[in-house]
Amino acid sequence: MATMESLIGLVNRIQRACTVLGDHGGEGMSLWEALPSVAVVGGQSSGKSSVLESVVGRDFLPRGSGIVTRRPLVLQLHKTEGGTDYAEFLHAPRKKFADFAAVRKEIADETDRITGQTKQISNIPIQLSIYSPNGLSLAFAFLLLASRLFPLLDENDFFFVNLTLIDLPGLTKVAVDGQPESIVQDIEMMVRSYVEKPNCIILAISPANQDIATSDAIKLAREVDATGERTFGVLTKLDLMDKGTNALDVIEGRSYRLVYPWVGIVNRSQADINKNVDMIAARQKEREYFESSPEYGHLSHKMGAEYLAKLLSQHLEKVIRQRIPSIIALINKTIDELNAELDRIGTPVGVDGGAQLYTILEMCRAFDRIFKEHLD
Ligand code: GDP
Ligand code: NA
Ligand code: MG
Repeated sequence: MATMESLIGLVNRIQRACTVLGDHGGEGMSLWEALPSVAVVGGQSSGKSSVLESVVGRDFLPRGSGIVTRRPLVLQLHKTEGGTDYAEFLHAPRKKFADFAAVRKEIADETDRITGQTKQISNIPIQLSIYSPNGLSLAFAFLLLASRLFPLLDENDFFFVNLTLIDLPGLTKVAVDGQPESIVQDIEMMVRSYVEKPNCIILAISPANQDIATSDAIKLAREVDATGERTFGVLTKLDLMDKGTNALDVIEGRSYRLVYPWVGIVNRSQADINKNVDMIAARQKEREYFESSPEYGHLSHKMGAEYLAKLLSQHLEKVIRQRIPSIIALINKTIDELNAELDRIGTPVGVDGGAQLYTILEMCRAFDRIFKEHLD
């Protein structure tokens, strides 16, 4: 029997194998869609890219005032067995980036390759994978989750961790110089196409120095997720509020109530970015901000990027657990279809397609078995 892979790694392999052989998943939800992704949504310069970076715990995204993020960035986090962190782009396979400043530059360059050095946007996503043995807080949480789901298996045997995070251009209200008139709607449609998927967890980013009633993030999130079951409210720029005001009405849920508690954030300012303040220093500064704050001190353990990452991990665990029955149903369906296919083409021996189908079938059966054994 093949070595056991993790929940998610195995799903990915099955998915990839099925794609190679044509669609054996049938209609309806695919295995991939059964697993959650996380996307940031909000107005331009609300702090989306900054929040995503903090949650991942790595500096790699272009950030700044104006329209910086101009193509969707689809990021996959992978857990590796060892070695040092590196990144790889789908558009430049086999080129390993060990320097994350170079990753940021490549994202900017690859954006320009499609859009030119303009303020235009493109729907075509940039796909980036980050490989790391540790340190990515969310990926690590996933590892812990998988080890809890499969307590009998040794983590070194089988863990690949793969989680998708999506950075998106900001919602805007008017076309600026060099942008087509349709840009406002174009961006909204692009963002919507990601966040309307029922498996997408929405980080609705709203800056604390603007009235929450004007939040584009909350407006769109409410439209695509009416019950709020997959929306997390994130309040950035707490440090930039007018003197004499605070965000307690929002954070404590009096202004706009969400299913999950609001999380307040202090990202790096533009001055910090210009001075190359690193992630560790930024997190330290954020922690100190909350701990020493007269307004938010009593909530400091529920504020900041690290807490947001923890909250997200807990949520992802819950979501995956809820999905287990439907994942099993999908796998059983795949097994049936693969069996039928094998019956049709005869014995796999000596037949390439048949042998591949047989391998997938074995993987599905193994997967199904692990799930069932650990359900109760
Ligand atoms: P995006 O356009 O929504 O992706 O926002 P970015 O992450 O690129 O940030 C836009 C600008 O706002 C940058 O200059 C950041 O330094 C700044 N910024 C974002 N969040 C905060 C925050 O919490 N505090 C401060 N002072 N500046 C922030
Ligand atoms: Na920006
Ligand atoms: Mg951005």
